[in-house]
Amino acid sequence: MADTTALIRQNRRINRLSSDGLRRSSVIVHQECRAVLQEVRPYLVDPTQAELLLGFLRGISATLQPINVAQVAQLSPLRYPGGKTWLVPEIKAWMRSLQKRPRTLVEPFAGGAIAGLSIAAERLVDEVILIERDPAVAALWELIIRGTELEADELFQKILHFDMTTEAVDAALSAYATSLPMKAFATIVKNRVNRGGILAPGASRMKAGENGKGLKSRWYPETLVKRMRMIRSFRHRLQAISGDAFDLFPMMREEPDTAWFVDPPYTASGKSAGNRLYAFNVIDHDQLFAEMSRCAGPVMMTYDDAPEVRAMAQEYGFAVKQVPMKTTHHEVKNELLLIKA
Ligand SMILES: C[S@@+](CC[C@H](N)C(=O)[O-])C[C@H]1O[C@@H](n2cnc3c(N)ncnc32)[C@H](O)[C@@H]1O
Repeated sequence: MADTTALIRQNRRINRLSSDGLRRSSVIVHQECRAVLQEVRPYLVDPTQAELLLGFLRGISATLQPINVAQVAQLSPLRYPGGKTWLVPEIKAWMRSLQKRPRTLVEPFAGGAIAGLSIAAERLVDEVILIERDPAVAALWELIIRGTELEADELFQKILHFDMTTEAVDAALSAYATSLPMKAFATIVKNRVNRGGILAPGASRMKAGENGKGLKSRWYPETLVKRMRMIRSFRHRLQAISGDAFDLFPMMREEPDTAWFVDPPYTASGKSAGNRLYAFNVIDHDQLFAEMSRCAGPVMMTYDDAPEVRAMAQEYGFAVKQVPMKTTHHEVKNELLLIKA
């Protein structure tokens, strides 16, 4: 009886309110967002606030756009030799374990940049800075992150309409690139047709390719464009710097809110010119350890497991964690994570 009376009263109230344009609506709210709903309630019953609220929400929608995390693993348009896609869960776990959430993540040897892209996509920091010395690779990041809509569209159309033949590849790679979209396009094509995605001078082209599909076996134009569009949707959290990371360390290392993910060119098995993976593949590792040990913020470095790496880690006070990984040839290899809190 009491229940029925309350219901009748409530319906009367709703009827009265409806003459003022108010309607009852039910929404599903995550418990984490209940406080937000409480805050916003007074504005929702005031018709003068509608436009303001809408404008505000549209203004921030660019930064709140949900990222499909399932796609994050395949976010980079580059198939990069020594790429760290397999290490992303470990890197994210490390970021989440830090006592204080860093504001910035620097990836000074960006390459395919899967770590930085994944961290930015999942908003584990406010800003990710990618540094890359190879101008061909840096041009691609510059276009994706800083390019205008026109420039990005020019690149996307070139990719979508490219007829992958030997002659077309020769023409794309020998043309003197006069614009950012042309440079970025050449990088994408080269990365797709060279064995192992190797961009270093002297790298050979795939012949048979996967399933005997030759040059086309790694050419997925729609997927490539989709990934680049996805990165552009959160490019306000990304910065691309073309240059030598060593020149930038002194400017950046004092900042305590900056974390570092460092994956330098290194192969314990030696680096004869014949198996060069990168156009820029020689750095001073001792100097890198010294630079990283001076960073005010947390650092994670990754290296092949080799005695000289372990020795430098000990000398410069890095904790060492061994992570097993399966190579593309299905051999199990140990990678080292060197961590400074
Ligand atoms: C091991 S790869 C990085 C791979 C990357 N972590 C990924 O997942 O794709 C190293 C990269 O460092 C770049 N590099 C080499 N020397 C550099 C330098 N001094 N400053 C900035 N980048 C450099 C190389 O061109 C290469 O792209």
